[in-house]
Amino acid sequence: MKTRITELLGIEHPIVQGGMHYVGFAELAAAVSNAGGLGIITGLTQKTPDLLAKEIARCRGMTDKPFGVNMSFLPSFNPPPYMEYISAIIDGGVKIVETAGSNPERYIPALKSANTVVIHKCTSVRHSLKAEKLGCDAVSVDGFECGGHPGEDDIPNMILLPRAADELKIPFIASGGMADARSLVAALALGADGINMGTRFMATKEAPIHDNVKQALLAASELDTRLVMRPLRNSVRVLKNKAADIVLEIEREKQGAVTIEELHEHVGGVYPKVMLEGLVDRGVWSCGMVAGLIHDIPSVKELVDRIMTDAERLVRQRLEGFFGGKSTKLAANLEPA
Ligand SMILES: Cc1cc2nc3c(=O)[nH]c(=O)nc-3n(C[C@H](O)[C@H](O)[C@H](O)COP(=O)(O)O)c2cc1C
Repeated sequence: MKTRITELLGIEHPIVQGGMHYVGFAELAAAVSNAGGLGIITGLTQKTPDLLAKEIARCRGMTDKPFGVNMSFLPSFNPPPYMEYISAIIDGGVKIVETAGSNPERYIPALKSANTVVIHKCTSVRHSLKAEKLGCDAVSVDGFECGGHPGEDDIPNMILLPRAADELKIPFIASGGMADARSLVAALALGADGINMGTRFMATKEAPIHDNVKQALLAASELDTRLVMRPLRNSVRVLKNKAADIVLEIEREKQGAVTIEELHEHVGGVYPKVMLEGLVDRGVWSCGMVAGLIHDIPSVKELVDRIMTDAERLVRQRLEGFFGGKSTKLAANLEPA
C-alpha cells in the first residue's frame, strides 16, 4: 500500500509502532521494521544518551530497514539531558524521530539540519497545526481512546481524525484504538495516511515484556481502562488494576487537590517492575481501550501481514461490494478458497 506516510518514511506498510516506555526496546522496533512497518525505540527508557546510542546500534544489528526513536518531553523536576539524547539519535544515523509530550520547538533545528523526519505525536487539532507550523513533517494524532496520555480535550478519533484531515496539510497518522484491518481502513477513510499502534504491539511474540503483561491484555476488555491523574491535568489511560484503584481512591479522598507526591509510589518508576518482572499490580501502566480487541499473541509479522491482507479484502469485498456490479466479481476472486 502506498500513502503519504509510506512515501515519507520509506516503509512498505502504513503501520507505525509508537514509543512505549520499557516496551520499545530494539527487539520490538526491529521486528516491526522488518515486517514492513516503522518500529520505534523509546529514547528515555535508556537511562543515558550513551545507552541510547548502544540501543540504536543493537537495533541496527537486527534490521536494515528504517526505524525511529521516540523522545517524550514531559514535565519533570529533574529533566533528562534532552539535547544529548538528540545528539545520540543524530550521531546514530537515525533518520526518523517521534516527538511527544510538550512542544518540540527547541529540538527541531538540530533534527532538521540532520535531515531527520520529525513526527510529532499530539492529542488535538490545535497542537497538530502548531507542529505543522514548526516544520514537523507529519503528526500522529492520539484520540481519547489511546493508551498513555490522551490530553484533556477528550475527543475520540471518530471526530478528531476528520477534523485533523480538514485542517492539516502535512500527512498524519491515526493513533489510539488501532488494532486490526478495520482500524486501518477506517483511519484511511477518515483522512489519515496510516496508523500508529501501542497497546496492540505489546501483545506480540517479540514484545520484550513479561508474559504476565501480555496475559493481562488478553484478559482485559474495552471496559477495563481508567484515567488517572486527571486532577493534575496530566491524564493517563491505564489498565484497571489494584494500583489504579488506589490512585483513584486517593484522588477521590483529596477531592481534586491531590499532589504528584501523594501518588508517587503508585505512578513513579514502576515500569521496570511491571514490564520486566511481570508485577502487573505494582503500579499503574498505560493501556488503551483497544485491549478489548486483543485476543491473541501473534508474531509482529503475522500481525502486520494479517492487517494488510484483511484490509485489502475489506475494501475489495465488503466496501466495493456495497456498490455492486464489477466490484462484487472482483470481491469473489479474493474469497479465500
Ligand atoms: C505501555 C505504554 C507505554 C507508553 N509509553 C509512551 C512513551 O514513553 N512515550 C510516548 O510518546 N508514548 C507512549 N505511549 C503511547 C503510545 O506510543 C501510543 O501513542 C498509544 O499507545 C496509542 O494508543 P493505543 O494504545 O490505543 O494503540 C505508551 C503507550 C503504552 C501502551
